[in-house]
Amino acid sequence: MTSTKAPPQVGLIGLGTMGSALALNIAEKGFPIAVWNRTVQVTRDFHAGAGDLAPMVTPTETLAALVAAIRPPRAIILMVPAGPAVDDQLAALTPHLAPNDLVIDAGNANFHDTNRRIAARLPFRFMRIGVSGGEEGARHGPAIMAGGAPEDWARMKAVLQAIAAQAEDGTPCAAHMGPEGAGHFVKAVHNGIEYADMQMIAEVYGVMRDGMGMAAPDIGATFADWNEGVLRSYLVEISGIIAQAHDQVSGGPLLDMILDAAGQKGTGRWTVIEAQNLAAPIPVIEAAVLARNVSARLEERAAGQAVFGPAPTRVKDLTSGDLEHALIAGKILCYAQGFSMMSAAGAEFGWALVMPAIARAWRAGCIIRSAMLNDMAEALAEDQGRNLILAPFFADHLRRSVPALRKVVAAGALHGLASPALASGLAWFDMMRTSRGTANMIQAQRDFFGLHGFQRLDGLDLPHGPWATD
Ligand code: 6PG
Repeated sequence: MTSTKAPPQVGLIGLGTMGSALALNIAEKGFPIAVWNRTVQVTRDFHAGAGDLAPMVTPTETLAALVAAIRPPRAIILMVPAGPAVDDQLAALTPHLAPNDLVIDAGNANFHDTNRRIAARLPFRFMRIGVSGGEEGARHGPAIMAGGAPEDWARMKAVLQAIAAQAEDGTPCAAHMGPEGAGHFVKAVHNGIEYADMQMIAEVYGVMRDGMGMAAPDIGATFADWNEGVLRSYLVEISGIIAQAHDQVSGGPLLDMILDAAGQKGTGRWTVIEAQNLAAPIPVIEAAVLARNVSARLEERAAGQAVFGPAPTRVKDLTSGDLEHALIAGKILCYAQGFSMMSAAGAEFGWALVMPAIARAWRAGCIIRSAMLNDMAEALAEDQGRNLILAPFFADHLRRSVPALRKVVAAGALHGLASPALASGLAWFDMMRTSRGTANMIQAQRDFFGLHGFQRLDGLDLPHGPWATD
């Protein structure tokens, strides 16, 4: 930490878990910071607990005092819950700020809300950043996905890149994604992929637990082993740690004591809704959101088991290598869908989203960080308009791993082990590798009942079937 008495040029509103961690990170990187929280005691406690960093932090007790404590042109980071709280803070700040002051919404906003706020023409500058990495990331290095005017990014770049995580090659994982709500949009897709990665891990965990009769510590050791290979990633790593954790109360694995109903704040759902609006297929992410929704229906699931009996679970012919390769294939298919959706969004919204830059920004700090993102960044840099499954590096991976994905999905179907994300990834892959699909039947049906017309393979201009003349 560099101690300095210069007045801060950066402020932060909202000292919850993420805001506190981000403020300390900023202070630690040598940028003095003024902070304010709606509840005065929270600000006092934060300052009192800031330790060595306290001299870098100016606590303030009113919004006017916060603004007065920051040297113009000011930059104020908002770390408040997404939704109305952001609108409230923007309104409250309005009388205090000058046109060249910059407010940065660092929450998980829906990018439509962000675009609405931009359209409302706030009387100060307004930038948006998606921040990923949970509390630990916010404190010691998150991934940052920025959206806004290039000049605002240029103004904040030094701070944001200083506080961000660094990839193994030393590049900071903070990048400008594009104008308007592009940063929040990319963060939402990140979260959709986060849901999918988590769901696919949960599915192979289910096969090991219910299909292969493995105990949680052994499953944990398997994840730890996979984390040494192609699947090296934060989520596989923590899944290994989680499965090996001991419960002090029951004396058994903690994982076995946790209710199987997943929560969600909505970012995965936003991604799915947006994908539907864009007609961009992201079935693995859709399946992951669906699975969270089904998981929450505990009573209905219990009633279902009472009526239909438990699934016939024991699987004999799967190896942990099959599961590892199924997960590798599922991951590649999921990311291919996510990047393809972002390409569609870039075209639709007129944002020049740079796919390799997004992959590079996700390599460290964020929840979906993984070794594979290095290879994805390289493949996207070769040709960012090409679907990732067609990049030679990933096509080779898929040729090797899809047979295992088929085995795992087939075993799941035969043994009643639900694997919606892996199965929908495989179904999408099979559609994508089939040049003559089955939509000719759909087109004929549409023409039959609605005379919607179809194109013929021979190019003749005969758009209706014989039913049209009846
Ligand atoms: C991140 C995460 C974070 C998210 C939590 C919980 O990148 O740090 O995506 O932003 O809020 O993971 O999300 P859910 O409650 O929707 O699971």
